[in-house]
Amino acid sequence: MTTDKPYLLGHYTPVADEITATELTVEGALPPELTGRLLRNSHNPKPGVTPAHWFKGSGMVHGVRLREGRAEWYRNRWVRTPALDGAPYLTEHGPDLAASTAGTHVIEHAGRLLALCEANLPFELTRELETVGAFDFDGKLRTAMTAHPKQDPVTGELHFFGSSPFPPFLVYHVADAEGRIVRSTEIPGATASLKHDFAVTRRHVVFIEGNVTFDPDEHSGIPYGWSDTQPARIGVMPRGEDGTRHIRWFSIEPGNMLHVSNAYEDGQGRIVLEGPTVDREGFRLSWNWWVGAPGRGTEPNARSYTRRWVIDLAAGSVDERIVDDLPVEFPTLNEDYLGVENRYQYAVSFPDEKGYGGYGVVKYDRTTGARRIHRVGDARLPSEAVFVPAAGAVHEDDGYLLTVVSDLKQDASQLLVLDAAGLDRVAAVHLPRRVTAGIHGSWIPDTALDGSDA
Ligand SMILES: [Fe+2]
Repeated sequence: MTTDKPYLLGHYTPVADEITATELTVEGALPPELTGRLLRNSHNPKPGVTPAHWFKGSGMVHGVRLREGRAEWYRNRWVRTPALDGAPYLTEHGPDLAASTAGTHVIEHAGRLLALCEANLPFELTRELETVGAFDFDGKLRTAMTAHPKQDPVTGELHFFGSSPFPPFLVYHVADAEGRIVRSTEIPGATASLKHDFAVTRRHVVFIEGNVTFDPDEHSGIPYGWSDTQPARIGVMPRGEDGTRHIRWFSIEPGNMLHVSNAYEDGQGRIVLEGPTVDREGFRLSWNWWVGAPGRGTEPNARSYTRRWVIDLAAGSVDERIVDDLPVEFPTLNEDYLGVENRYQYAVSFPDEKGYGGYGVVKYDRTTGARRIHRVGDARLPSEAVFVPAAGAVHEDDGYLLTVVSDLKQDASQLLVLDAAGLDRVAAVHLPRRVTAGIHGSWIPDTALDGSDA
């Protein structure tokens, strides 16, 4: 393909077809408790298709099936949505929520596998990654669904939102542990600001509105752009039935956060929120990469630094600072600590626009401030590092990080298993092809699928 679009080149070059391979070669010893599936979504337009925006590329899910020390299969499948066949999102009847790229994330909830894109309904997949169809929670989901829902590690509930550039701008949903929507609430005071992610603590729901908002003059297919007049704010709402009556919005410095690392109440009842964030120039560099325009960064997120907000609800104040000088994205953690104070945070590091940093899997110790990086080697790019607890885990970092590495020199990929404590390599599964870089993924243990075989 002849193109100058960075999201169709190098690590991001789409694959041309769907394959299945069995009995994969494993270097090292796969821990037997890694019995399940690693699923990874990616934007992978069909051959000959050049989307005007990276995020408009059709979703393809890559899966690796591990069982008791063996790597049983690899397969990749496009998510078969109307958009894959060219159906437009905007129709004469309004947005078609089923016309999804479904290329942002893939999760499991209540035993159901869902491929997600924030402008649309989720798409249900089988355990072999075939598409079942759009899933609207038995007719109860009338909005889009964020690609970053939060599963409460205690209750099993799924918290999520639907956002839109048109009213209602923000609707908050809760599904119970069985996957039934039990609450849908319009959030008062929200605006058309782009909301990619949010946070749920033990006692609060936290919404983030940055300076990127609806821009009808943006024609890449993603109608958003930076606005200096859009107020940047954090909305804090108590969890529970009447939370919307008590939502409070706090002004913050201009910026745009794509992903939440974590949020929690600290010992003084303040809310601590962290996530990689770009400033105005950082957003310009990223956006120009995402649309393939001149004046872009060398990476899709070349100026994304972790920012921490401490919100004092009693004083009504926000303390805000950048906490690390390494450009990172795709923050992950031991999800048992979602919503409570986590000591360890993981992320993928990228070179910044001056070349500082480099590709690696990063571990932060938030107590000591220590930072450790696992370098993956030249011309190799790791994907989001998914944490999986070890059998009998006691400490927060007793477990593994699973990341799919794109290797340009070998034109191949590996599923790398790192020890989350020391970032040492435990095992590598050789995949039969290079897996397109990006975006999000999940580990789905067999126990989440009723423990049954598939
Ligand atoms: Fe995301």
